[in-house]
Amino acid sequence: MNIGLIGSGGREHALCKKISESKLVDKIICFPGNAGTSELAKNVELDILNFKQVLNSIKLHKVDLVIVGPEEPLVNGIGDFLRKNKIKVFGPDKYAAKLEGSKAFMKKICKQNKIPTADFKICEKQSDVKKFLNNCSLPVVVKADGLASGKGVTICKTFYQVFKTTSDIFKGKFKTSRKVILEEFLKGEEASYFIIVDKNNFKFFGTAQDHKRVFEKDMGPNTGGMGAYSPAPIVTKSLEKKIVSKIIVPTLRALKRKKRSYTGFLYIGLMIKNSEPYLIEYNIRMGDPECQVILPRLKTDIIKIFNNAVKNKLCDTKIEWKKEKSMTIVLCAKGYPGKYKKNLKINNIDKIKLTKTDFIYHAGTKLYNNKLRSNGGRVLNITSIGKNFIKIRERIISILKNLNWKNGFYRRDIGWKVIKKNANY
Ligand code: AMP
Ligand code: GLY
Repeated sequence: MNIGLIGSGGREHALCKKISESKLVDKIICFPGNAGTSELAKNVELDILNFKQVLNSIKLHKVDLVIVGPEEPLVNGIGDFLRKNKIKVFGPDKYAAKLEGSKAFMKKICKQNKIPTADFKICEKQSDVKKFLNNCSLPVVVKADGLASGKGVTICKTFYQVFKTTSDIFKGKFKTSRKVILEEFLKGEEASYFIIVDKNNFKFFGTAQDHKRVFEKDMGPNTGGMGAYSPAPIVTKSLEKKIVSKIIVPTLRALKRKKRSYTGFLYIGLMIKNSEPYLIEYNIRMGDPECQVILPRLKTDIIKIFNNAVKNKLCDTKIEWKKEKSMTIVLCAKGYPGKYKKNLKINNIDKIKLTKTDFIYHAGTKLYNNKLRSNGGRVLNITSIGKNFIKIRERIISILKNLNWKNGFYRRDIGWKVIKKNANY
């Protein structure tokens, strides 16, 4: 089979690597991919939001199955467009993609189906905001309704900040939407739970915890993710049962009742408070960098899983996992998530000796005249698997020290929660 993979980050390099290990695959085409995927696949430079361009290239390269990595093309309807053109796609349609594309849509589903989530109000004007503030305590979480590249959530500690943040959104700070969701602040521990879904069934696809803040001790502004580990020990068997029965099943049933069944990866972002799961967000794709820690633990042929999902035969698929734990640390360009330089040379990568349990996934990289250069804020994901998180982290940091990229920085405390709590980890 020829596989088309849409996207260009660390998540897509990890997917590309797994796909390349499948016995069912002849060729992989990445739209547009990065320097890492170019070693395993053919990269095709195009605009992934220009669906006609994507379709033409898919036809040209005789692609049999398309996997969509990032959310934006899915929210814009690439699934519907390609399926209409008789192309097999793994990923939800535009309607179901609103689980991530519109926080108001997601919250309404929660309310209608009694899914545990933070109390909220959907606001279209300042007077709606005032009403909510009359009956709530600080902090208040302000969210833009539509996609906002991870920048749409502000935890406001003062009423003035709530007014300022909401009025910026009403004025159009985020082009995708002028609606605002105000939410009660939930204090607890975050975890991510992943499933793979077809029209009839869903299967567990791993747990992880990521680190969103840019600096050690979880300080500084939010980022796309500075590192992650899997599995997430906080997700116990009894918590998992609650996640499935109180959150996943009612959501998938609600979409099925509307005759808009979900298919694809579903990422369930949770806050765990007093051993109860609350839905913080849905993402309609794998997480980045969570994908980079989950896929190295997968034993089953990923294309077999995708093929069965596309045929709605997930129930026949046994998904097997390695016992090892895994961690990834993101190497970023200095200045990220603020201003940072691109096109910086990365010299030492070929000199690094990796074992079978180490993986360097490229995120923001590009080859210029066959030389590796940075091409984004999150540049490389150094990943390793093993028996205990402390040793895995030591291994990753030793690789990062050898790499010695002077233009970059990384967090040395990834996994601090699990490492501090229990010495056996
Ligand atoms: P989201 O884009 O909805 O995932 O929000 C980004 C981050 O904001 C989450 O990962 C949480 O750390 C935080 N967050 C979002 N909603 C809440 C909430 N209701 N209570 C506490 N923290 C939240
Ligand atoms: N790491 C968070 C995300 O992929 O949304």
